[in-house]
Amino acid sequence: MKKIEEYVRSIPDFPEPGIIFRDITSVLQDADGLQLAIDSMIKLLDGVDFDVVAGTESRGFIFGVPIAYEMHKPFVPVRKKGKLPCETISQSYDLEYGQATIEMHKDSIKPGQKVVLVDDLIATGGTIEAAIKLVEQLGGEVVKVIFLMELAGLKGRERLKGYDVASVITYE
Ligand code: PRP
Ligand code: ADE
Repeated sequence: MKKIEEYVRSIPDFPEPGIIFRDITSVLQDADGLQLAIDSMIKLLDGVDFDVVAGTESRGFIFGVPIAYEMHKPFVPVRKKGKLPCETISQSYDLEYGQATIEMHKDSIKPGQKVVLVDDLIATGGTIEAAIKLVEQLGGEVVKVIFLMELAGLKGRERLKGYDVASVITYE
């Protein structure tokens, strides 16, 4: 059986010179790769007591929804600016390449709810740090943060001190 790292495609100099892009499409387009990715992420939640899965647009949706579905939990989308129709809160952050703002509906998390945050990958940690701030602003408690991939060299974990963070595979 193949390992997750054998399904991930690495593209040098995308979307900018100097970035090695870790592509998940090659994982998703293989039935075994997709199943292994979701099952491996679910294993990271062993023993975790939680109420809600929240995922960041857009790759966090791809992994967050099947995890929530499998564990019979609700899914809350953390969306890019201007996409959510009801009252929102927002947070801006820097990316490995570029800048962005994400938003959540004000009623998407109830105070006291235990939240698992999901994304495909942590690079600088800017996206997930912004998502944590939004969840906490709504009164949620971030009990676990999970990724398929961690780009350890970018030291995103250092921005998440005090949180329980886990990833399936790590690139140095
Ligand atoms: C990517 C990735 C993470 C984030 C990681 O998303 O899916 O959400 O960047 O980078 P960071 O740790 O430096 O914040 P991107 O914003 O490219 O959007 P996409 O999922 O829509 O492709
Ligand atoms: N998002 C931010 N940095 C990335 C990278 N190196 N590969 C894939 N997605 C990313």
